[in-house]
Amino acid sequence: MKVLIFDDAERAVISAADHIVTALSAKPELVLGLATGGTMLPLYQRLVAQYQAGRVSFAKAATFNLDEYIGIGPDHACSYHTYMRDVLFNHIDIDQSRTFLPRGDCADPVVEAARYEALITESGGIDLQLLGIGQNGHIGFNEPTSSLSSLTRIKTLTADTRQANARYFENAEDTPKYALTMGVGSILASRHTLLLATGTAKAKAVAAMVEGPVSAVCPASALQLHPKATIILDKDAAARLELTEYYHHVHPQGAESAWN
Ligand code: GLP
Repeated sequence: MKVLIFDDAERAVISAADHIVTALSAKPELVLGLATGGTMLPLYQRLVAQYQAGRVSFAKAATFNLDEYIGIGPDHACSYHTYMRDVLFNHIDIDQSRTFLPRGDCADPVVEAARYEALITESGGIDLQLLGIGQNGHIGFNEPTSSLSSLTRIKTLTADTRQANARYFENAEDTPKYALTMGVGSILASRHTLLLATGTAKAKAVAAMVEGPVSAVCPASALQLHPKATIILDKDAAARLELTEYYHHVHPQGAESAWN
């Protein structure tokens, strides 16, 4: 794992955006895996600004989002489809016919999960998968005890996850109970994973992910098995790591190591 720690969230976001811009410059037809949640908002703002400044184009890229709530359609105000259009897709030059998310309003979520996984494979696989982390260590909606080789499927959300996401819904009880999510195995199949975490609320999950045992209890810890996992943190999210001195030594201020 490459652990990059920045003094503040703004610098962490800039680094994450730079990784994406660099990947798109090297491969304009990049297959980019995307995440949702509050952490990603400033990152998408930064990408939109970079696009507007002419520093990046998404014209040839394709995107696959990690997850979507079951039972709500793409036009629902709280769907991840809407989130992605509002914060990113409507503001960049991406061909929206190449932006994919699981359909939460599908007739059969089991069939939809298999279709989505197959679509990722047919696209040639994900080049760069962006990730956030839940306070319970989830990635996508892979809640604790998710199989570490799971593929896209239905997951039942934990009470804590529903509570954390209730802020987006008018009535807390409307927060969906189920989601379709790429599996931990789907995420591990991507060629590069880029996880962004900021704020003290994530510190415990980050410590378990980076320095804990590989365990389904913390699905993000499966990234320890990934050959190219980059973890971008601000110092608050990094607060409970024990080997911080080493991470700073290898990547001072989040810089590339001397070997690069
Ligand atoms: C959500 C999403 C995850 C996201 C996480 C953290 O439930 N399914 O992909 O990483 O929770 O969200 P936030 O950034 O709002 O803390």
